Amino acid sequence: MEASDKPHASGKVPAGDTTQRVGVEAIEARGVDVEQLVEKLIDAAGAEFTTYYYYTILRMYLAGEEDYKEICEDARLEDRAHFELITPRIYELGGTIPYDIRTFADRAGCPDAYLPGTQDGSKAHVRDEIVADATPAAILEVLLEAERCAIRTWSEVCDLTFGKDPRTYDMAARILNEEVEHEAWFIDLLSKERDGVVRPSGHFRRGEPGDAPYSKNRGFYNP
Ligand SMILES: [Fe+2]
Ligand SMILES: [Fe+2]
Repeated sequence: MEASDKPHASGKVPAGDTTQRVGVEAIEARGVDVEQLVEKLIDAAGAEFTTYYYYTILRMYLAGEEDYKEICEDARLEDRAHFELITPRIYELGGTIPYDIRTFADRAGCPDAYLPGTQDGSKAHVRDEIVADATPAAILEVLLEAERCAIRTWSEVCDLTFGKDPRTYDMAARILNEEVEHEAWFIDLLSKERDGVVRPSGHFRRGEPGDAPYSKNRGFYNP
């Protein structure tokens, strides 16, 4: 190839080299610790994935509370969308999610969202058993704290990437938008259910379950 006078035609990464990524070099040059960022993204993706799992159980136990159930379902499906959105970014940055799902679950950056009354999930499950402590208020508390952990997580990713890594920042900010909404939903519901106090979230309903208005890459990652 002929030498070019175009300023971005070449850089540190030699032409044709597939062992290095300009997409990584460019953000490192702007001050991102890519190694650290990838580790945090894996922890964050693990939390989204495990939350998706636990919210499945929590939603089931909201039986008869159809309004709570529907909102829990939106939060559940949106966490799956968050996992789908951020996981490809881990690979773009040269990382990989763990080969063993147990490793992935253990390193999730947020606590397990266990069903109340199950002794942190260790209780043996019995068919048709009533889990007495799994009241709507107790379940809503678990959901609320899971959303709060997610807000802290994605805010940190925004801090680490702001002004340096626009792509990761954009994804984290889109996820954060939904996590903030999720917290507001569960404050709205828990405050009324547990304390009889109205603290509106401004929420009515998503268009479709798990709409993920900010985080879903329609037609790309979430068929
Ligand atoms: Fe999430
Ligand atoms: Fe969430």
